[in-house]
Amino acid sequence: MTVESAELIDRAIKILDNNFQDGGFTIPSKGLYPFQWKWDSGFIALGFAHYNMDKAKKEIRTLLNAQWGNGFIPHIVFHNDSDTYFPGPDFHQSHLHPLASKEYRSTGMTQPPVFGFILEQLLRIAEDKDDILQFIGNQIDKIYKNHEYFYTNRDLNGDGLAYIYHNWESGTDNSPLWDDIWQTMNPPEYTFERRDTTHVDASQRPSNREYDHYLHIIEIAKTYNYEDARIAEHSPFLVLDPLFNAMLIKSNESLINLYTLLGKGQKEIDQLKKWQALSIEGLNTKLYNEELGAYVHYDLRNDRQLPYVCSSSFAPLFSMAPSKIIAKRLVETMMEKFGGEDRYLCASFDPTHERFNPKKYWRGPVWINMNWIIYQGLKKQGFDELAARIKSDSLALIERNGFFEYFDARKENPDGDMSGYGGNNFSWSAALLIDFLKQND
Ligand code: SER
Repeated sequence: MTVESAELIDRAIKILDNNFQDGGFTIPSKGLYPFQWKWDSGFIALGFAHYNMDKAKKEIRTLLNAQWGNGFIPHIVFHNDSDTYFPGPDFHQSHLHPLASKEYRSTGMTQPPVFGFILEQLLRIAEDKDDILQFIGNQIDKIYKNHEYFYTNRDLNGDGLAYIYHNWESGTDNSPLWDDIWQTMNPPEYTFERRDTTHVDASQRPSNREYDHYLHIIEIAKTYNYEDARIAEHSPFLVLDPLFNAMLIKSNESLINLYTLLGKGQKEIDQLKKWQALSIEGLNTKLYNEELGAYVHYDLRNDRQLPYVCSSSFAPLFSMAPSKIIAKRLVETMMEKFGGEDRYLCASFDPTHERFNPKKYWRGPVWINMNWIIYQGLKKQGFDELAARIKSDSLALIERNGFFEYFDARKENPDGDMSGYGGNNFSWSAALLIDFLKQND
């Protein structure tokens, strides 16, 4: 390892340790995100695993402690009070759902199901394999129950695809994709006090009108006490997301591997295999767009594909879903639209599209967690050269700008040198840099 890499890892460790809280969880970024976020925790655990496995385990345990009686895992767990974030626990009111955790306040929405594959990655990283297998053995049924929740409550048409009912469930919060859904809604103009724009320049964050839509969907879900069947009936936002479902499929794959290694859970393995076959078929029929050469989102409420290419379009590479032909086509699409030499890979939205914005949250900038997912996918499908580029682009962005939340994809930024945006000292950027640098390839 070079001196520069070792120095970057030291900085990343400091960030993770500073963001780690007494309650045994890690905030994504001070001020901007002062609680525990679901998929952040998964990626954060990977970073800890390289130098402090106890913290990695704690991160996962703390999140799973807040799991609901029906297997649901919320997207934010409000362990503590904070006046630096809106909307907080009083707005979300998770207690409305009869099976919500009685001990922990949370949101009533979820985020991509990453924990199956996160457990498998911990096994890759751990030096003490027996110890980590014991930990996995103690946690795996909770993740299985979470998948069971999705297949039982979120698969409306029985095609193995779980819907999301809020843009925050996608992880790609203000993607230009959602503009098409906002055009079908006309929410009231709510009175609220944004906190995110006190931490980050407003030009890098969603607009107030976008927040009206976000809050409105939550208000509707609250009216129905967060009951899935009622939300499915009434939410104006009901979407099948290729990233969300690719994470589910990848995590199914990992759960099958892990149960097999542990020598238990035959019933669960059989069930997972059935779900898996259905989901792969569903993903490749309903969410693949031949013309675009990409996986796309499906708007269930208005029964239409949303024909846009974004970084989520490439996430299925990380799963066993794409055929060799589809995988090759995805890579061609990525190179054609996102891969110019004047850009870092991989922008979060199609840079050739008029809705692309290089600075605004999920409307264009590069995210390190998406790069990590796509990197793993490219390796899995045998595109080693392109995988190496994604990795070196990710490292270059952090090395040049710092550990930001998201980055400008343009190598020449016309507004000057500063190409890191959103929250600084961002936990998953630090955690995944450690994992990138410690993987020997
Ligand atoms: N990341 C979202 C926010 O911007 C919530 O998950 O607040």
